[in-house]
Amino acid sequence: MRALGTSDREVAALMTEATKLAADYWASLEERPSYPSTSGTETARLFDRPWSDEGRGSEVLNDVKAIAEHVRPCTGRFFGYVAGSGEPVGAIGDFLASVLNQNSTSWRSAPAAVTIERTVIGWLAEAVGCSGFAGSLCGGGSTANLMALAIARENMLPANEDGARPGVVYASEQVHMSIPKAIALLGLGRSNLRVIPVDEDFRLRTDALEAAIASDRKSGKTPVAIVASVGTVATGAIDPLREIAKIAETEGLWLHVDGAFGVLAALAAPEKLEGLNLADTISLDAHKWLYQPIDCGCLLYRDRDAARKTFSHSGDYVRIFNHDPGEAFAFFEESIELSRRFRALKLWMSLQYHGRKAYREAISRDLQHAQLLADAIKSHPELELLAPVPLSAVCFRHRVKSNEAILQRVIAQGRVYLSNATINGRFALRACFVNHRTKPEDVHEIVSEVIAAADELDA
Ligand SMILES: Cc1ncc(COP(=O)(O)O)c(C=O)c1O
Repeated sequence: MRALGTSDREVAALMTEATKLAADYWASLEERPSYPSTSGTETARLFDRPWSDEGRGSEVLNDVKAIAEHVRPCTGRFFGYVAGSGEPVGAIGDFLASVLNQNSTSWRSAPAAVTIERTVIGWLAEAVGCSGFAGSLCGGGSTANLMALAIARENMLPANEDGARPGVVYASEQVHMSIPKAIALLGLGRSNLRVIPVDEDFRLRTDALEAAIASDRKSGKTPVAIVASVGTVATGAIDPLREIAKIAETEGLWLHVDGAFGVLAALAAPEKLEGLNLADTISLDAHKWLYQPIDCGCLLYRDRDAARKTFSHSGDYVRIFNHDPGEAFAFFEESIELSRRFRALKLWMSLQYHGRKAYREAISRDLQHAQLLADAIKSHPELELLAPVPLSAVCFRHRVKSNEAILQRVIAQGRVYLSNATINGRFALRACFVNHRTKPEDVHEIVSEVIAAADELDA
């Protein structure tokens, strides 16, 4: 057999084994710890090995069990960060996307895949109340934010031909780290990010925003864009979109909404996201609150030409000769990516398999779980809620014991996984619900695990 060849029989055997591994893994999630008991030495011992000259054949699948034991499983008791739960139909879609191995650069290179991605983008835009927005899928919220600010820069302070000039971007002090990173990468200069104070609900203060813009204009700076957060990563705070949009309009600034965490809550609670459709660009993450396997970010934009102005610079070898609007379409004219996975297939399959109602209900349940935890914390004498809970992130602390020590113990115990945040200078325990597997009893376990860990510590 020629190099790299696999017979149909071999592939079928590998597939049977791989699907069994996947099914067993999903079936075992409930029994798995919320965090693996492992160490750097252990993972290096198991997985840091030379690439041998001779192939190992189907033995490579034997590693999967060990890998699964040394990764964070997507159990219903994982509440750290903003970690989606990896819905299985989406995972099957991802596998099939790799089998089809489409390059979703343009209709010409992947006719069905590109049509499906455009359809799915339409579903997402409509689901968050932004019908008519165009967009594209990408690796995640950080890439979507980078593309959004690139579009803002090119349309407000063109840089593609002659290089970047400093321009000021405004965002709340709770903004996600991907925004300063994008500003640095785009050559705007991180010192040109104005970090605007927040109110007691961790929402950007619009009076401070207006004052900052006025002060910058007075000193000869060039304001470019405002970034509003829909779901700050720490507390899920939703910035006042309508007021911010008004300021953006009056000042002639670009309005980007970083909705990587929270925008998809619009499916279940659209009233929380009033004014979202006033944005110029919106980031969202289907691998967070649509439970899809990583990676599945998305950037929506009101004006396709604005995206094209930024990203359209094509080499002759990808030139499109067709004039039919569907067939001439190219994502590479609107995105930083050329070669692109067929990410849309997992969404296409998973969203249709379950239907819209199931997604609405899963997101509603996450919102309810957050309120359930907030209520349990409020009614527990040893615990204190540290921030309002507008979406599904809950920040709290033990009133007396070291919360850092509690967190370490809770994680080591492996029943529930929490992460942390800093709230008004204090170390907070943080639970975030974007997980279709979580049950109410898992939520109660957060409180019992935190109290059990606290009881084991000296005061
Ligand atoms: C508000 C917000 N923006 C952006 C991101 C970055 O998203 P990603 O990790 O998909 O790059 C996150 C991630 O948690 C986030 O919460």
